[in-house]
Amino acid sequence: MAFGVYVHIPFCAHRCDYCDFATWTDRDHLIDDYVDACVLDLERRVDRGELADASSVFFGGGTPSMVPAAQLARIVDAIPRATDAEVTVECNPDSIDADGLRTLAAGGVNRISIGVQSMAPHVLMSLGRTHNPDNVVRAVEAVRAAGIARLNLDLIYGAVGETVDDWHATVARTIALEPEHVSAYALTVEAGTPLGMDIAAGARRAPDDDDQADKYMIADDLLAAAGYDWYEISNWARPHEECRHNELYWYGEDYLAIGCAAHGKTQNRRWWNVRTPERYIEALRTNSSAEAGFEELDSDARSGESLALALRTRNGAVESDLDVAAVAHLVAAGLLARSAGQVILTRKGRLLANEVTIRLQGAISQPPPERSAAE
Ligand SMILES: C[S@@+](CC[C@H](N)C(=O)[O-])C[C@H]1O[C@@H](n2cnc3c(N)ncnc32)[C@H](O)[C@@H]1O
Ligand code: SF4
Repeated sequence: MAFGVYVHIPFCAHRCDYCDFATWTDRDHLIDDYVDACVLDLERRVDRGELADASSVFFGGGTPSMVPAAQLARIVDAIPRATDAEVTVECNPDSIDADGLRTLAAGGVNRISIGVQSMAPHVLMSLGRTHNPDNVVRAVEAVRAAGIARLNLDLIYGAVGETVDDWHATVARTIALEPEHVSAYALTVEAGTPLGMDIAAGARRAPDDDDQADKYMIADDLLAAAGYDWYEISNWARPHEECRHNELYWYGEDYLAIGCAAHGKTQNRRWWNVRTPERYIEALRTNSSAEAGFEELDSDARSGESLALALRTRNGAVESDLDVAAVAHLVAAGLLARSAGQVILTRKGRLLANEVTIRLQGAISQPPPERSAAE
């Protein structure tokens, strides 16, 4: 059985215009106390016998590379891990260096995910990023120099001012860096972010669905031609280089949440921790629970959710679990394909994944709406 540990690192040097993740730019003074709290949380759980050996560990953020590498290694060290555990750290291109990466590698980190987003300087500026494409090239070289074998590069498409040519060049330059894995996300407008507020005020254009759909197909074409297989709507990997931690979420396995704002799952129970680093540190210091809330999923909610997640993957969903008429309609519309008892999204279907899921969940067989961009 796969079991994962997610560790949230809520610190960033700068807040990007589009981002609504739980992260702060003015709390660096808390980093040491926060690491202590994460280690204490893990040690207490180990003492209580709550932890199986993790098959994957994922440090997400925020910007985990803002935390000194030796401190991150302390957290890794506190997690009981299977011998072949995948240990990923998300990094920003302008906050990693070869020495830090060597320390991470020595501490058991074997996968790095870098937030590249774009290789066009004006697009990076439009996204409110602080790095430039040269930082990305240096960061990738540093990962390789540290002997870390598995690398993911994250991209975003659909920013204001990004032409189709910009995106084509971004994907091509990303492939030229020879990562094992690429994630490409449609820029999502989150309410309350500078991007969301500008769009609500009419000061900036919202991303265009057709433009994002075209860019999705460019990414899929270029990545497939370069030997990367899509295995989830927004994720492509060289053979055997899929992210095991993400697969654990998509296939409904259990995971532990360490750190503020982190979410965990134990069988049918979902739970999440207090949102701020201060409250997380305080909870651990006072030996009280950092859990802020939980929900128990009933079997309808569970099957609806597992259908939505499975359908996003290249394995798709089991056809016999689904409404016959709805499947037939979606197959006829070219959105689903049948294979060995499974139904799998076609590429057109991947662009309309949410609508396909809703139709299957509700078993409503009406014509699908016009296409929208993949997420
Ligand atoms: C939360 S970030 C953490 C990693 C790192 N701080 C960074 O920004 O590169 C993880 C990834 O989420 C994606 N992301 C965050 N907000 C997004 C949004 N509004 N729309 C699309 N992708 C987003 C970005 O591709 C980013 O690399
Ligand atoms: S996108 Fe990444 S670097 Fe930017 S604010 Fe969000 S977590 Fe921080």
